[in-house]
Amino acid sequence: MTSPDLQALLACPRCDNRITVEGDSLQCTGCKTGFPKLDGIPFLFADPATSLDAWRIRYHARIRELEHENRALEAALAQADLPQPASQRMQLVHAANAAHIGELNSILAPLDTASLTASHETYLALRTRLPGDQGISTYYANLHRDWCWGDAENEESLRLVLEGLGDHEPRNMLVLGAGGSRLAYDLHRSFPAALTVASDFNPLLLLAAARLLRGESVTLHEFPIAPRSMQDIAREQVLRAPAAAGENLSLLLASALRAPFKNAAFDTLITPWLVDILPESLSLQARRWNRLLAEDGCWIWFGSHAFRSAQPRERISLEESLAIIEASGFSRPEVVEAEIPYMVSPFDRLGRSERVVVISARKIKSIKAPARHVALPDWLVRSDQPVPVTPAFQTEIMSKRILAHMMSLIDGQRSIDDMAQILEDQRLMIREEAVTSIRAMLIRMYEDGQQQAGS
Ligand SMILES: C[S@@+](CC[C@H](N)C(=O)[O-])C[C@H]1O[C@@H](n2cnc3c(N)ncnc32)[C@H](O)[C@@H]1O
Repeated sequence: MTSPDLQALLACPRCDNRITVEGDSLQCTGCKTGFPKLDGIPFLFADPATSLDAWRIRYHARIRELEHENRALEAALAQADLPQPASQRMQLVHAANAAHIGELNSILAPLDTASLTASHETYLALRTRLPGDQGISTYYANLHRDWCWGDAENEESLRLVLEGLGDHEPRNMLVLGAGGSRLAYDLHRSFPAALTVASDFNPLLLLAAARLLRGESVTLHEFPIAPRSMQDIAREQVLRAPAAAGENLSLLLASALRAPFKNAAFDTLITPWLVDILPESLSLQARRWNRLLAEDGCWIWFGSHAFRSAQPRERISLEESLAIIEASGFSRPEVVEAEIPYMVSPFDRLGRSERVVVISARKIKSIKAPARHVALPDWLVRSDQPVPVTPAFQTEIMSKRILAHMMSLIDGQRSIDDMAQILEDQRLMIREEAVTSIRAMLIRMYEDGQQQAGS
């Protein structure tokens, strides 16, 4: 359900006009774009049909991946001389995968996969199996931390964010990149009178959260990265919220970079573990967050401070972050630092300790909001524009040409030495260099093949 209070805050992610809500759909009063709801959650992406398709494809790809893994397990289980513990382990994973397919199908039913029938191999070719950005199960583990075993971590996160808020009393609060939505839920319980909006772009996380916030329990398998024992390889977990969330907490599916809200819609903005993973610079983000906040509104950046951009200029330090925030219409930020456990599942040998930041800043003036975020250039979106030869493309084309030539030398007869000799005869590389390059290429192809066979 979309409460009248939430509706009043919404703006079209395409044209910024008002949005009206009618039953199970929303419509922009300006560009007339219609937006669906998934299990009652508004789906407010700028291009809703394409985004819905993109998530459907990722969901379907994940199901295909699990089915593929189960076929590989079946083949392995049929092998002779299988030690009993290996057989037991593989049967356990096989059963868990099958159950997990059912769990995903149930939670993601609103995405409707009816028209998608592509095979696993097609997805590999399309690279949707390991997308450059996020897959349907990226941050899946957060659901278990949020709603199963993570009380200590969740309490610590809440405590730090409340410390950052100080005496600020939220009335309209937006949690961007809310993930499994536990922090949004805990904040909402701390300020029950406030309207809290938990927004994320991942439908699996929010569709699971929607059920939990209604007070339902959700069964989801946990797959620890380094299980502590055989039983921990795949654990059936029952997730539940301490109590139903009540009316004033709304979920919303949208991109943070095209946040579908009116200017100054919120007096509180929380960005937990988000800022340093978004593909935009902090200065652009800070100006976007400035737009969303009312005068004197409070922005809390909670989580990691780890900028690993390919652009040296964007690998900013804490000092630079604070200066950027201050130059973006905010007060001098206050910083609290703390070391906290992060994703320490009792069933996993892997678990981290993170030195997190809580950066709080008040909006002191409005500044010009940046242009709308454009994820892809026109020549990629439209099919009638010339594709530019960027420097990155040039490098890629050259290395792929060399690679294709080297691969064309594989004929089932030639050795690495024979192939290196050909490259030297063609004056493309000296022999020693050619031997090393060909071996490196073959090792990569061999390992990729092994991994795919085993995945
Ligand atoms: C590191 S997780 C943090 C999740 C949650 N805040 C927490 O503390 O557990 C980052 C979250 O941001 C979401 N996210 C990443 N890029 C986004 C975008 N452009 N728009 C909306 N959500 C995004 C992901 O789906 C994920 O839930």
